[in-house]
Amino acid sequence: MIERIRVIGIGMGDPGHVTGEATRALATVDAFLVADKGDAKSDLVAARDAVCDALIPADHAYRVVEVTDPRRGPDAERDAAAYDRGVRDWHAARVEAYAVVIDGLADGETTVGFLVWGDPAFYDSTIRVVDALVERYAAAGVRVEHDVIAGISAPQLLAARHRIPLNRIGAPIHITTGRRLLDEYDPSLGDVVVMLDGHLACAELAGAYPDLELWWGAYLGTPDEQLVHGRLADVVDEVRRVRAEARERHGWVMDTYLLRPPAGAPERPGPPPFPETEPLTDGVVTVRPLTAADWEVVRDEHNNEESLRWDFAGEPLTDEDARRKTAAARLEWRRGRAARFVMTDAESGQGAGVIGIMRMGPPGTGLVGYGVLPAFRGRGFTTRALRLVSKWALEDAGLARLELGHKVGNEASGRVAAKAGFRAEGRLSGRLPNPDGTRSDEIYYSLTREAPAATGPAEPGEPTEPNGPTDRPAG
Ligand SMILES: C[S@@+](CC[C@H](N)C(=O)[O-])C[C@H]1O[C@@H](n2cnc3c(N)ncnc32)[C@H](O)[C@@H]1O
Repeated sequence: MIERIRVIGIGMGDPGHVTGEATRALATVDAFLVADKGDAKSDLVAARDAVCDALIPADHAYRVVEVTDPRRGPDAERDAAAYDRGVRDWHAARVEAYAVVIDGLADGETTVGFLVWGDPAFYDSTIRVVDALVERYAAAGVRVEHDVIAGISAPQLLAARHRIPLNRIGAPIHITTGRRLLDEYDPSLGDVVVMLDGHLACAELAGAYPDLELWWGAYLGTPDEQLVHGRLADVVDEVRRVRAEARERHGWVMDTYLLRPPAGAPERPGPPPFPETEPLTDGVVTVRPLTAADWEVVRDEHNNEESLRWDFAGEPLTDEDARRKTAAARLEWRRGRAARFVMTDAESGQGAGVIGIMRMGPPGTGLVGYGVLPAFRGRGFTTRALRLVSKWALEDAGLARLELGHKVGNEASGRVAAKAGFRAEGRLSGRLPNPDGTRSDEIYYSLTREAPAATGPAEPGEPTEPNGPTDRPAG
């Protein structure tokens, strides 16, 4: 009768990789359930048996029950949704197959063990399957305890064999699959570890990123271990060849690798980050970089009637949307994509609106957007904020030209632009979408370094309407 399920990471197949904790756990298991995947990977089965033979004391009786693994369809041509569905169905079928065996355990067999290749936390479904089993028994009134014992994973062994750390100082590590690599690769990810790569996806990065450093390892921890290290473009053919020979010999290949941008390479391609700034103020209005704490200002500026009237989609922001947007502001700033500010009343510190600059189009050009909360309209706040931000952008942030635009009819927005020193440059036909599917012309303005912002008073009479915050070019 089942009482406990143990998920035990056994490392890469060498009994020497099994931790002391895992060794002790192995000696408590009455029945190991192992997926029988056919004989394609019989080397793995042999490695697993070697671990049990080497580490379980001779006087401890246990049995190994092979459970036929439900078949999974081919992954290659599936889209992501079909892939997820396929994996979920496969897990459900596994749960059923294991439950049949567990229900048939002898009276004295109370502890079931699952042996997991490497560590159960890395691309392995055993923990999810065991959770489902525990839930299934709980629903039937049977309490089953379970625990997870860590093992040495393939990325750890890869790093150890190459004698490297997986991360650079204080930097993140991105772990992904070969299936996803080409879609998501960007040098800004930093160090990228790739697992489950049947097709050596990194070969397709060699053209665009020849200088990436590659540390590759196959059959790690086994007598057939293979290591290759070098500049991606230089070693990719060697890896291809070694891989093909190994596949020929074994019928399968298990490899993992690390891709690292070369030392001294810019952290990411694209524009430089916007410079850090203290709050900017003229004594009446203060603008400071937007933070996650400002999400209510972003939501309220977007969701009032006037703003929605000039919006592209006319859809209110949910709290979650506003939170996500403000949380992303810091990263956008550092990536040089957008410098978003919150406008506040200098005296009370209360949020009054939003203003920002998106870097887009030719280098040195920024697109400005702004919007003020109804309670602060007609007080010259937006003009003041626009002057502060424009001065910063042209003098401190390295931009040479600022642009902004508003939908024809949103005249108050144009008055703000003009008072802040922007010059009207023309009318762009049908540039801006409306919520009803039609499109509006846009009145376009610019301000360049050579023609600095006006310094006169910011009289009342400024927009009752926003020109659109920084994620819409104009409103
Ligand atoms: C289903 S995942 C299991 C990972 C495992 N749980 C771990 O902790 O490493 C299988 C992938 O792990 C990597 N892998 C597993 N064993 C390996 C080995 N001996 N050498 C190199 N890579 C290995 C390969 O990327 C393989 O596609």
